[in-house]
Amino acid sequence: MPGLLEGKRLLITGVITDSSIAFHAAKAAQEQGATVVLTGYGRMSLVTRIAKRLPHGAPVIELDVTNADDLAALPDRVREHVDGLDGVLHSIAFGPPTTLGAPFLDAPWEDVATAIQVSAFSLKSLANACLPLMGEGGSIVGMDFDARIAWPAYNWMGVAKSALESVTRYLARDLGPRKIRVNLVAAGPVRTMAAKSIPGFSTIEDTWTERAPLGWDLTDATPVARSICALLSDWLPATTGSMVWVDGGMHATGM
Ligand SMILES: NC(=O)c1ccc[n+]([C@@H]2O[C@H](COP(=O)([O-])OP(=O)(O)OC[C@H]3O[C@@H](n4cnc5c(N)ncnc54)[C@H](O)[C@@H]3O)[C@@H](O)[C@H]2O)c1
Repeated sequence: MPGLLEGKRLLITGVITDSSIAFHAAKAAQEQGATVVLTGYGRMSLVTRIAKRLPHGAPVIELDVTNADDLAALPDRVREHVDGLDGVLHSIAFGPPTTLGAPFLDAPWEDVATAIQVSAFSLKSLANACLPLMGEGGSIVGMDFDARIAWPAYNWMGVAKSALESVTRYLARDLGPRKIRVNLVAAGPVRTMAAKSIPGFSTIEDTWTERAPLGWDLTDATPVARSICALLSDWLPATTGSMVWVDGGMHATGM
């Protein structure tokens, strides 16, 4: 039986370790027949090493999603490996230490601005950069942590995720006529480098493992990876501007 993503050409951002959600998404996508190109930020030799652990390896392009030159060069760099894109995963977030765990009231605007630029505005930047490669339409997927409520510790990253949710809706509005879908996966907590760097995030993790109706394994990114692949496939063709919860059902529970 052909894989879910047979023939799909995907650009996957956000791999930094083999626990990155993006790494698991790239692995699942290759297993389902996709051709994967990765982007890496900062520690390029590390990302290149991690890319070799994928079932079929993958080329890595350098991309700082806040860097205009990197964004402008992206289409040509991608074309060195594939002749277009059917899907893009945005799996990027960053907030300076004052924006996470520290007292919410103390974060300076410059740090909040960085968190919002890297974690929310960048979905627009990445989509724009990839548009010339997506002439036949396709699917853009971003990574969310449900921002409808205020969580312990998550602070300004929660605000950035609210912005990301809104950016997703506006991109869906404007890219729909080009047959490009834009959706978010709202994942439960997964032990990655980004998650471990949030002081106090363990309170959220504990609640999840105790309360999620389907149960929740903090060390297993496979359910999230598979759901990303589903959104990148042709099997949710009329879904855009949406947030798909992949959280063991936690969002649906009360006290
Ligand atoms: N781990 C969780 O519990 C969880 C839950 C829900 C959503 N998410 C989201 O999933 C996404 C991936 O995070 P992760 O948990 O896999 O952590 P991770 O640390 O493995 O990945 C974060 C990635 O962001 C990249 N990045 C940071 N600044 C960048 C920049 N300027 N340009 C390009 N890339 C940049 C890093 O290089 C890294 O690859 C993030 O959006 C995160 O908020 C994570």
